[in-house]
Amino acid sequence: MAHSATPRPLTARVSGPLSGRAEVPGDKSISHRALILGTLAAGETRIAGLLEAEDVLNTAAAMRAFGAEVTVTADSTWSVHGVGVGGLAEPADVLDFGNSGTGSRLVMGMMATTPVSAIFTGDASLRRRPMGRVLEPLKLFGAEADARDGGRMPLTLRGARDPLPVEHHVAVASAQVKSALLLAALNAPGRSRISQSALTRDHTEKMLAAFGARIEVEPLAGGGEAVTVMGEAELRPANVEVPRDPSSAAFPLVAGLLVPGSEVSIPAVLLNPRRIGLLYALREMGAHVEVTNRRQSGGEEIADLIVRASSLNGIEIPPEWAPSMIDEYPILSVAAAFAQGRTVMRGLEELRVKESDRLAAMASGLKAIGVQVEELADGLIIEGMSGSVPGGGTIATQMDHRIAMSFLIAGLATRAPVTVDDTAMIATSFPEFETLMRELGAQFVETA
Ligand code: S3P
Repeated sequence: MAHSATPRPLTARVSGPLSGRAEVPGDKSISHRALILGTLAAGETRIAGLLEAEDVLNTAAAMRAFGAEVTVTADSTWSVHGVGVGGLAEPADVLDFGNSGTGSRLVMGMMATTPVSAIFTGDASLRRRPMGRVLEPLKLFGAEADARDGGRMPLTLRGARDPLPVEHHVAVASAQVKSALLLAALNAPGRSRISQSALTRDHTEKMLAAFGARIEVEPLAGGGEAVTVMGEAELRPANVEVPRDPSSAAFPLVAGLLVPGSEVSIPAVLLNPRRIGLLYALREMGAHVEVTNRRQSGGEEIADLIVRASSLNGIEIPPEWAPSMIDEYPILSVAAAFAQGRTVMRGLEELRVKESDRLAAMASGLKAIGVQVEELADGLIIEGMSGSVPGGGTIATQMDHRIAMSFLIAGLATRAPVTVDDTAMIATSFPEFETLMRELGAQFVETA
């Protein structure tokens, strides 16, 4: 989906205490997967709570292009009439995934073992991101790819006519790569075994099981795990309830911590253990976050969060926590800027290939609001300012929704206002962000 050429800047100003309920939208990772598995099941899958944001809507459009019937009812329940594993039609036009690495990479896996061709593209940010990490292992299944230099989009992928089962170790700590290979395995004959040393998010594995795939997960002796999928699978449709996204909850959560006097509740958030590193990190920094009413929803643990303004201390974030909070480092960096003392984050080379180079974007943004920060090859060292961050300055969003949201949250508690140069990308993951934050009491003003 194309964005208008005119940027939409916004300024965040110091705000009075934030209070109220922040009902954040559905989880992005689970939303993409529900549409994809719904397409691969024969029959009707119904999805409640789907994230209706640009990234996910682009995946929905791609599923239609592969032959699924995807509709939404007045009460926002989504229905996917799938075509079955191996039943994908060939898209008649180029698939544009906008800003979404997850949507595009998962769909590459989905089609890699079906004899159809598709052309993948995206916005300027996505066209810079490395796709070789998915394309190379998909070739082991028999797929063929033709990408721009450096394995970049636009690219053409030809699914295998006679797919092979695969045993492969995924060296990069990426759930997207793992998931793409698991999806490819569904239409290969026999068993495929995909291993990974990092414990990345496991939504694909869980949802595959719920759709009736034969899948086994075993821990590896030296850490990590191996996932075995029985191919030529028949998936049965399912009813999916998408829990609220912890990566979106992170923004009102940190806002509640930083703005003095705040108390914010965030109901029914996904608490999958592989997604909640931020909660551990913030608590270790001294954050008051109450986790109540833990329960199950749609095969995942959820809970209500209550956050109160807190004085934070800088800490060293263990690098092995990275997969469980990989999207949360921008907002954690903002929290660290307000903490007392130094915060060290390492093992984060993956952040350089997200929607933007997030280490560079955070380092330059923090400097612009008066924070001392050292950018390492694989991390950041942030000198916390004990609650008194100067602010001012304009932040370059660099087509990255999480950079935009992080600095808008910072500006609610800095001494001078903070302007972000473009808020358009926020619609890729959290279209309600501005309204939801204003309802809590956030002061955002349109910038001329
Ligand atoms: C995601 C995996 C992560 C994360 C992304 C969503 C997923 O990416 O950053 O926002 O849904 O599998 P990587 O797998 O590239 O780390």
